[in-house]
Amino acid sequence: MRTARGVGLGLRHEFAAELLRERPAEVEWLEVHPENYVQRGGLFAKLLADASGSYALLPHGLTLSLGSAEPFDAGYLRALRRFLTEIRAPFYSDHLCWSAVDGRCLHDLLPLPFIRDSIVLAASRIAQLQDALGIPVAVENISYYAHPGLARMSELDFFLEVLEKTHAKVLLDVNNVYVNSRNHGFDARAYLDRIPVDRVVQLHVAGHATQPDGTLIDTHAEPLAQDVLQLLEHVLARTPNTPILLERDGNYPSLATLCGELREIHAVVDRVHARSIPPGNEEVRA
Ligand SMILES: [Fe+2]
Repeated sequence: MRTARGVGLGLRHEFAAELLRERPAEVEWLEVHPENYVQRGGLFAKLLADASGSYALLPHGLTLSLGSAEPFDAGYLRALRRFLTEIRAPFYSDHLCWSAVDGRCLHDLLPLPFIRDSIVLAASRIAQLQDALGIPVAVENISYYAHPGLARMSELDFFLEVLEKTHAKVLLDVNNVYVNSRNHGFDARAYLDRIPVDRVVQLHVAGHATQPDGTLIDTHAEPLAQDVLQLLEHVLARTPNTPILLERDGNYPSLATLCGELREIHAVVDRVHARSIPPGNEEVRA
């Protein structure tokens, strides 16, 4: 069984054929959105079969809306569980947010009110989801631009309290921490230092755009920022073997350019690993 280790890339049809043909060394595993494959056949099923023949896959959901009050779709959860078993997923991740109402998916990851009622609701939904899927659920911290109503606590305290009330793992999005820290004025390193790294199972990095007024937008459509790579290095020092994904969801450059960004991430990983080897224990090479 393949295990996702090192640096991965999201499987996107824009470069899938070239990626699966060339198998560049920079890409060590792939992330897939189950929504693209569950209850779908044809080209999607073929792409998935080809990808799983060459790479370890990690699933990453976009639509389960962990903070919504509406019940999950039981039929979709059963199909999702079969899919996760098929790809031998070690965990399932989705965002700590809401993104659906009245049976409609908003295709946007919106912040929950940072209040106790939201914590109780999200914790109970995460527990239901873990029961339904039979594998751990990891929650991802989102980027947000405005808070709905009166915030009773910081986004970080909110996130940590949800963790405390569940057995959830963490998908830590370093770019989201950076974007939020700039837009809302907090110390990104201090935020990362409070994340319990024993719960972190995956890291995300991505590019963001800067608006004329200085607001950062989490677009996943720009090159990686050096500030985000520095933050990655900071958190990776505490959890050096966590798989890292480069998210790219638009304005696609060539695969060669994406591989250049992946090499920058590999360089960060190598530096962290070199520092974590005690002196005298370095690998001996001929
Ligand atoms: Fe992310």
